[in-house]
Amino acid sequence: MLDNLNQLRDDALSALSPIWDEQQLEEWRIKYLGRKGALAAQMEQLGAIPKEQRAAAGKLANEVKNALETAYEAKVGAIKQRALSESLEAEPLDVTLPGRPVAHGRLHPVTTTMRELYRIWGDMGFQVFRTREIETDEMNFQLLNIPPFHPARDNWSTFYIADTEERVLLRTHTSPGQIRAMRAMHPNPIRVILPGMCYRYEQITARSEIQFPQIEGLAVGHNITFADLLGTMTEFARRMFGENAKVRFRADHFPFTEPSMELDVECFLCKGAGCGVCKYTGWLEILGSGMVHPDVLRNGGYDPAEWSGFAFGMGPQRIAMLKHDIKDIRYFWGNDLRFLEQF
Ligand code: PHE
Repeated sequence: MLDNLNQLRDDALSALSPIWDEQQLEEWRIKYLGRKGALAAQMEQLGAIPKEQRAAAGKLANEVKNALETAYEAKVGAIKQRALSESLEAEPLDVTLPGRPVAHGRLHPVTTTMRELYRIWGDMGFQVFRTREIETDEMNFQLLNIPPFHPARDNWSTFYIADTEERVLLRTHTSPGQIRAMRAMHPNPIRVILPGMCYRYEQITARSEIQFPQIEGLAVGHNITFADLLGTMTEFARRMFGENAKVRFRADHFPFTEPSMELDVECFLCKGAGCGVCKYTGWLEILGSGMVHPDVLRNGGYDPAEWSGFAFGMGPQRIAMLKHDIKDIRYFWGNDLRFLEQF
């Protein structure tokens, strides 16, 4: 019996040493250490041997069992270690390689221009007042002195989105916000800007999109005069385009302001000499403005005998195009990274 056990241990250990494969290791475990394995078979015979030999045989059997179990555990560890070093060698990892660059997002040039405009108008005492993009024909036109079939409607080709009695539309300019701001703030004086998206049912070209932001301005108070409008516009141009920006005012016409005018700044590319950007006039058109028409004041709830005001409307994309020399308005919504990454 003792010989058998010693033999069993030697056989088992020499069978174990060449094994480097998990499946073979499992077969080995079943063969020698399993419930019906070689060692178990020896243990079963312990009861049958003479009593005086039993203690020594039992002791040796336990030693063999411990030796095989220890050898088995060591092999499991050795196989894992070998698999790890093989994979490290097969897939070398260079921890000194530089990391992959992370692509940073950035603000859209229209957003940065809008924010700059908010800041300038905020510094000049104008609060942001938000109004809706979906409007009625009444707000977008009629209360601004543009009745149905008025020829001025040609300037604002319109997306009607519900041909109900109210004639719901996408606003063609931010000017309907004047009425909403007046109705919300009456009877207080007003100094607000109204930024937001506008829509026009037009051919898309290098200079006009069907969707574009505008920033409207509105000041209503006692004794606001045309001189206040001129001074405010001049100050705005200085803050936006620099201390020495030269401005000029040109008479214009809008049904909701009287008188109306356009603000031009001297072309900052050619300094007035004439170039492609200013179409060789030396001047750039920046915004439309005027004194709020008495009918519009009345429609907003303000008595024109006591109140007066001025309004203006500008296109931030136009300003961004001038500032950054962007030749085509379609770049803004084109989502071309080659364009966007320049800002
Ligand atoms: N709403 C006009 C436009 O879209 C601009 C404007 C606003 C003109 C306010 C005068 C006063 O063209």
